[in-house]
Amino acid sequence: MDHLLALGTLMLVSQVNAGSYKTEIVGGREATPNSHPYIASLQLRRQHFCGGSLIAPQFLMTAAHCLSDTNPSRVTVVLGAHSLRANEASRQTFRISQVFENGFNPQTLENDIIILKLDRSATLNSRVNVVALPRVNETVPAGTQCVTSGWGRLGTEARIPDRLQELNVTVTGRELCRPNNICTGVFMRQAGICFGDSGGPLICNEVIQGISSFIVRSCGSGVAPDFFSRVALFRDFIDRAINS
Ligand SMILES: *[C@@H]1O[C@H](CO)[C@@H](O)[C@H](O)[C@H]1NC(C)=O
Ligand SMILES: *[C@@H]1O[C@H](CO)[C@@H](O)[C@H](O)[C@H]1NC(C)=O
Repeated sequence: MDHLLALGTLMLVSQVNAGSYKTEIVGGREATPNSHPYIASLQLRRQHFCGGSLIAPQFLMTAAHCLSDTNPSRVTVVLGAHSLRANEASRQTFRISQVFENGFNPQTLENDIIILKLDRSATLNSRVNVVALPRVNETVPAGTQCVTSGWGRLGTEARIPDRLQELNVTVTGRELCRPNNICTGVFMRQAGICFGDSGGPLICNEVIQGISSFIVRSCGSGVAPDFFSRVALFRDFIDRAINS
């Protein structure tokens, strides 16, 4: 009961923050510009509120909770960005033309995944490109080293970053997680995902294995793991959407 309550509260916090704050990774480092060419910034009135990943030229994958309170027709998808403030030549911007849902449960945060069809195909180049998807039901062993990235806050109460941050994380054992999630931790120091990183990628061996979904305590608590949707379990749904 406490656990569910905590998730619900976090969900609420992230929704409240969605319109007014950007979120950043805690304890990470600035990414090399455009070294994650699949990452998208979802924006409302030019304000970053969630991340996403390009999985096909015209399709973006993100967390369902990112759009649970937001009219998709108001969202701008920005690819090829590094600094949120700069007017970068590498940028491509899109509107959302269709949303593919897969049974998101806002109480338990299960199935926290949606696919967004863009209003046209992205032009693929060195700064904008698709990310590789996992095989159906592929598992990621505990101890695997992965990288997550985003423009989320630098701390629970901290400021919003301008430039994309990245963080090395380690996949935790299943006993700390749930079957439909993949969980990560950063050992020996306080670091992790934070508000505004939602919907962004967890990359393990160059494959997108997770979508940033929720945290249980504060950002970068150093105690509780971070929870990502387990992309491999949704491979059929993803394929149906992008082949539609
Ligand atoms: C993947 O896992 C689901 C749920 O356990 C199962 O129904 C499905 O048959 C599996 N698919 C493959 C290709 O292993
Ligand atoms: C982060 O991971 C990358 C490869 O996944 C590795 O090359 C790099 O050394 C790691 N950085 C730190 C600070 O651990």
